[in-house]
Amino acid sequence: MKATHIIHISDTHFGPEREFTVRGAPVLERSQRLVTEINALPFTPDAIVHTGDVVNDPDEAAYKIAKDVFSDLSVPVYYATGNHDDVMMMREHLDFGALDLLVPESEHRLCYRAQIGAIEAIVLDAKVPPEEGPHGFLPQNQLDALSTSIAGSDRPFAVFIHFPARPIGAKWIDENLPVKNGDALHSILKSAPKNKFLGMFFGHLHRGMQIYDEGILYSAVSSPACQFTAGPDEEGCGFLPDVPVCFNHISISERGATQVKEYSFNS
Ligand SMILES: [Fe+2]
Repeated sequence: MKATHIIHISDTHFGPEREFTVRGAPVLERSQRLVTEINALPFTPDAIVHTGDVVNDPDEAAYKIAKDVFSDLSVPVYYATGNHDDVMMMREHLDFGALDLLVPESEHRLCYRAQIGAIEAIVLDAKVPPEEGPHGFLPQNQLDALSTSIAGSDRPFAVFIHFPARPIGAKWIDENLPVKNGDALHSILKSAPKNKFLGMFFGHLHRGMQIYDEGILYSAVSSPACQFTAGPDEEGCGFLPDVPVCFNHISISERGATQVKEYSFNS
């Protein structure tokens, strides 16, 4: 198998004005730095995958700024829906690489598969109405589509989604941020052939971390906007000051091994 290289980014939280900040961080400037550093890599990735929260609030102007920044990337870009995103605006304003929808467009869900290098990326959409909270929930038809897709393809695959599917060992985050039916997703992934399933990649936590649970790799990339604390007993969402700009390089080797390398830059 040919080696495949994907750059994983997440939670850019663009605002409607170029001067928009998140907790004092100039998000446009920081995402521009992200793009500059990706373009400076000494290799060309097969694609970029952004696991959601492209914008801070659904707003046409914010997506236009995002489109402008990401248009400097020279390889296909794919997006998952974050809890802060709007699918209709994403489809209208962002440029996606070639993809096949796994649920009908009319459902206003970004659930699709895409061929990236030698692998298949399956992107799931677990967004719930914002008034329900910052967690996710995967509709049954997406779980079914995932199972069908796994059964119908011999190609190695990775899953991309905004929300964590397993507890991370931090009280507030585990109560408030996961996809609520993460067990159903985990059991489908657990039943996939071990030599075919490469890992699940997500954001939402605003921090890089890896979970290895029952033989499955779950890997999160941090946010260029801000980072959350994640102490075991914290009752609320805390923030770290002066955080670096980060992205992850996911590579799938010729023999199908998954490797994740974090890149971080002082802003
Ligand atoms: Fe976020």
